[in-house]
Amino acid sequence: MINEKIVLTGDRPTGSLHLGHYVGSLAQRLILQEKYKQYIMIADVQALTDNFEHPEKVRENVLQVALDYLSIGIDPNKSTIFIQSLIPEIAELTIFFLNLVTVNRLKRNPTVKEEIKQKEFGESLPAGFLIYPVSQAADITIVKGNIVPVGADQLPMIEQTNEIVRSFNRIYKPVFSEAEALIPMMSRLPGTDGKAKMSKSLGNAIFLSDSPDVVVQKVMSMYTDPEHIHVNDPGKIEGNVVFTYLDVFDPNKQQITQMKEHYSRGGLGDVVVKKRLIEVLNNFLNPIRERRALLAKNPQAVMKIILEGTQKTKEVAEKTMHEVRKVMKLNYYS
Ligand code: TRP
Repeated sequence: MINEKIVLTGDRPTGSLHLGHYVGSLAQRLILQEKYKQYIMIADVQALTDNFEHPEKVRENVLQVALDYLSIGIDPNKSTIFIQSLIPEIAELTIFFLNLVTVNRLKRNPTVKEEIKQKEFGESLPAGFLIYPVSQAADITIVKGNIVPVGADQLPMIEQTNEIVRSFNRIYKPVFSEAEALIPMMSRLPGTDGKAKMSKSLGNAIFLSDSPDVVVQKVMSMYTDPEHIHVNDPGKIEGNVVFTYLDVFDPNKQQITQMKEHYSRGGLGDVVVKKRLIEVLNNFLNPIRERRALLAKNPQAVMKIILEGTQKTKEVAEKTMHEVRKVMKLNYYS
């Protein structure tokens, strides 16, 4: 029934996106948009599940995330960017899907379990948060998405989606196809403090929107090798975040190899390596900053692009719900 592969991906608009997002998913989307029909969802409804008391935060970041997408080269002619809350069909489908999932199954979802622990919800766990994987299943299926690029920590979400898809198809009629997770090409980027994950909440992120001065400051205070005290001491490369970033962003691989040798041997100071990283990151970020500055001058034009994408998505979502209502015997008008 379905032959054209469709990509669905998205981000919660709770902050502007950082280099970790770039490495983990944005870079891949630039490639995917050349090959597939790609939907990119700004997940404002999902962002509210743990920010419902801060609607202004979510609202402001919708534009920031849109700016991030467009400034890195997401092309609205190739990718359809849309706002989740403007597709009420997703909420409708979520309600139907909720019948196909048990509370116990949701509580066992490893991603949700981990997040519940992290956010310390305890006894006041909002129902909306617990069920967000079901909403995520609706995000994917509403556009009949069958490729979902996700980090490894989101794999249980795809499993959960596919369980729902199988139940739905078995109980009603085969409307949906199962989704396939696409693991990012590059491994996860550590934070500037050396922690395994770059994240806004950990305060160890370099944002795509950071100015050159901020990049200087963040790189200068980056985690290196705590035992590399004197320039002449031999230094460690492994776990040294400056070298990890150079490996990812520096196009001059030969020079990195030389620097690594010199650093391991001793005699190469952190500051020299950091200066190189500053140069590399600014070279990478400059064109993004330029496009961002241009787009930010006209936020209405940016919103127009996103709303056009939303309109296109809405038409697809309505079609899907038409099928869903039909197989669920809820098609009262026809
Ligand atoms: N959970 C993702 C995040 O936290 C955002 C998201 C919502 C998503 N729905 C999705 C990603 C569906 C992939 C597929 O950023």
